[in-house]
Amino acid sequence: MSRPSAALAQPQFADVTLTRDDMGFISKLVYEQAGIVIREHKEAMTRGRLARRVKVLGLNSVAEYCAFLKTPAAADEIPELINAVTTNHTSFFRERHHFDHLRKEVLPRLVQERSGRRGRIRIWCSAASSGEEPYSIAAVSRDVLGSRSDVDFKILATDIDTDILVKAETAVYSSDQFDRLPADVKPLLKLEPHAGRGEARISEDLRRMIAFKRLNLIEKWPMTGPFDVIFCRNVFIYFDTQTKASILDRFVTLLAPGGFLYLGHSESLPQPHPQLRLIGRTIYERLP
Ligand SMILES: C[S@@+](CC[C@H](N)C(=O)[O-])C[C@H]1O[C@@H](n2cnc3c(N)ncnc32)[C@H](O)[C@@H]1O
Repeated sequence: MSRPSAALAQPQFADVTLTRDDMGFISKLVYEQAGIVIREHKEAMTRGRLARRVKVLGLNSVAEYCAFLKTPAAADEIPELINAVTTNHTSFFRERHHFDHLRKEVLPRLVQERSGRRGRIRIWCSAASSGEEPYSIAAVSRDVLGSRSDVDFKILATDIDTDILVKAETAVYSSDQFDRLPADVKPLLKLEPHAGRGEARISEDLRRMIAFKRLNLIEKWPMTGPFDVIFCRNVFIYFDTQTKASILDRFVTLLAPGGFLYLGHSESLPQPHPQLRLIGRTIYERLP
């Protein structure tokens, strides 16, 4: 089967039934490619997301989509499939206590330690989704750094989903997202008015602090570290214990001694890690 063209006539009603075999095939593929485990109660949602790809490609059914994915011509479709099945839910200053900890406990100490020596501070936001999380990190960091130029400060923001990274880099968000924010953090995001009605853009000053890159957490990572802080929030929930444990080991290798790891609110270590000490709500410190 050759690659279907999105421009071809689109069927009005695609058949979205998904057989056990097809579901098994998709689940295995998504697990192999992204480490994401599609749990049974998420099957209906997955079917809906596959239906969107079926429509875009002008196919007639999810069954046809699965047949297409089994052909060599589908290599370019795999990232699209991963984009379709990832859950990107996020918000600015989500799980506020992490940003407060970073702003009050971590950054002032790091800045004092590294300034003068023109030292580096590196933060990795490893499942950055549409950008709200790395921009919240940039906002509190700018607040602590002020205009000083004696520290080499950078945030690396990565995600597996290429579509969501484009949105993150564009940095344009609906104004409602900002209106809902607590008054003390809202000014830190330094918004620029955007041409679109009801939208605002994060200031260039904060945008410049972040490098956005595609990175699949279950593949090889090109960075050598060390990072002073790693955020990995609300993505472990999609992985199994073995995948989480192996990613954690790699985080520990890249974290500077005394560095911090922030996990999501409902996430914990699969088992106690000899080099990580729990020091607050889902906040871990790397031991020397
Ligand atoms: C629910 S969002 C969490 C966003 C943000 N960290 C937060 O807590 O608000 C999960 C993110 O993990 C990303 N993701 C899923 N599997 C991944 C993988 N194997 N490697 C890197 N990112 C992945 C998804 O694309 C999605 O943007």
